Amino acid sequence: KPPPGPDYSVTFTPLADKIVADTVTVPAGYVAEVLYSAGDKCMIGSVGYAGVPQSYPATETQSGGQHDGMHFYALPGVDPNQGGLLVLNHEALDDETLDQSVEGVKTRLSNVGVSVVEIARGANGAWTVKTDSRYNKRYTGNTVYNVSGPAKAVVGDTVVGTLNNCSSGDTPWGTYLTCEETLNNYHYKTGDAGKPADQGYGWVVEIDPQNPDSTAVKRTAMGRFSHENTAFMLDANNRVAFYMGDDTTPGCIYKFVPTKPYDPANRAANMGLLDEGTLYAARFNDDGSGNWIELTVGKNNLTAGATDPGNFTQVASGTVITGKLVNFNTQADVLVNTGAAARVAGATLMDRPEWITVGVDKTLYCTLTNNGSRKRTSAANPRVSNSHGHIIRWHERGDSPLATTFEWDLLLLAGRDKTDGVAANLTGNVNGDTFSSPDGIRVDPKGRLWVQTDAGTSASTTDFFGNNSMYYIDQKTGESKRFLVGPLGCEITGIAYTPDLTTFFINIQHPDKAWNAVRAGGGDARSATVVVRRTDGKPVGA
Ligand code: FEO
Ligand code: CA
Ligand code: CA
Ligand code: CA
Repeated sequence: KPPPGPDYSVTFTPLADKIVADTVTVPAGYVAEVLYSAGDKCMIGSVGYAGVPQSYPATETQSGGQHDGMHFYALPGVDPNQGGLLVLNHEALDDETLDQSVEGVKTRLSNVGVSVVEIARGANGAWTVKTDSRYNKRYTGNTVYNVSGPAKAVVGDTVVGTLNNCSSGDTPWGTYLTCEETLNNYHYKTGDAGKPADQGYGWVVEIDPQNPDSTAVKRTAMGRFSHENTAFMLDANNRVAFYMGDDTTPGCIYKFVPTKPYDPANRAANMGLLDEGTLYAARFNDDGSGNWIELTVGKNNLTAGATDPGNFTQVASGTVITGKLVNFNTQADVLVNTGAAARVAGATLMDRPEWITVGVDKTLYCTLTNNGSRKRTSAANPRVSNSHGHIIRWHERGDSPLATTFEWDLLLLAGRDKTDGVAANLTGNVNGDTFSSPDGIRVDPKGRLWVQTDAGTSASTTDFFGNNSMYYIDQKTGESKRFLVGPLGCEITGIAYTPDLTTFFINIQHPDKAWNAVRAGGGDARSATVVVRRTDGKPVGA
């Protein structure tokens, strides 16, 4: 078994069970303040949404919708506990900030992508967006992106648009990796002209937030699938691995190991690191061991005439699987069709891998959010009809990012309390505050594990778990403490913080009642980044 993680306790009083208030609820002594909402001014010259919906091109300079993965970056010459850059994803549309009467595909595509905003802390401890900052920038579904890596020959030199920007990650050299979760471009409606080729999406896109004049790059060497986030592990020799989940029902877990080490002394030299390296997919063996299977053309059955077994865990045992012919002639074929390559190579089909995080002790965690239609189990995915999800953890051999083997176990099974007496597949083993559908997960620099949920928001779920929430999880005992509960209809996602941990940034995605609405009446709630901090100024959780 992996060794238990560090013991970093927290002092807040956990929130009550089953909170369904239309507000952001935090423990006594904390405040939650809206910082940056869908439609807010982002770039210099923006009109922004203040009750009057905008259309393209005004929408190109305001905040997108459905705030998701996020990272905080220091700026040269600025105390990072008082100011810096917040970079965040916009996964989908917040329709109420868009002018529906003139709504066109370009207006809709403005609402996805990434925001870069400079933020600063005021004397009262509260944070604001500096709307006059030259760093502020939108990357949208209308922006042109460069393409690099082995699939460039197939995808093209450039692609218009980034889409479905779910979660994200950072790099040791200070860039931001936004992850395209959905392979198909659903922002095009029936009758819209000019829908681009699907293979332009489903990539990891690298953005340099320090350089607003730079062009973002789609890094095809990291594979094309429903990317959730990235998390990196760095060793003493500056070799690095990036871990990635494919949020597919079911999907695999991957890592990408650049061929060259990171160069801490030459930032520019790192800008091509993600173009050359080895992509692996994980096999979680039933005995607790694991293997990283190389996804390189010519190896591990990745050849012309391969047979993709498809998502066979979703059909009942005994059903005859008819494989689908797939030709892997080049590495570009592997990268454009990475999910099929992983299945052909024998990787384990997991219950929707969402975020991955690397702990300070190099324990890796991945949320497997749910898979209500799983029919064949494995030790790593032990429940049929897994409606509530689980969290898996593993240790690389020698704690090395270059390892090709690992050891894994399950941190916890989410779900109903065992005293509820529901069926075994719906019963969790969480010690403390129970939840469903873990999604966001991040170990902070003090080694404390935080989990955020994206469960259904109808009464059939909230009657038992309350609104979607954020939890602290003790890595030794699995004990869970509820830290924050979102407003009605939302999911909680995105975790960023200042280096001193006195400020946490959390995203409220798709709230659907009155919380954070500009106009009176229902349906105007906007996704937003909120600042969570203590009124006494001490670090969150300490
Ligand atoms: Fe967009 Fe997988 O959550
Ligand atoms: Ca979402
Ligand atoms: Ca997610
Ligand atoms: Ca989710």
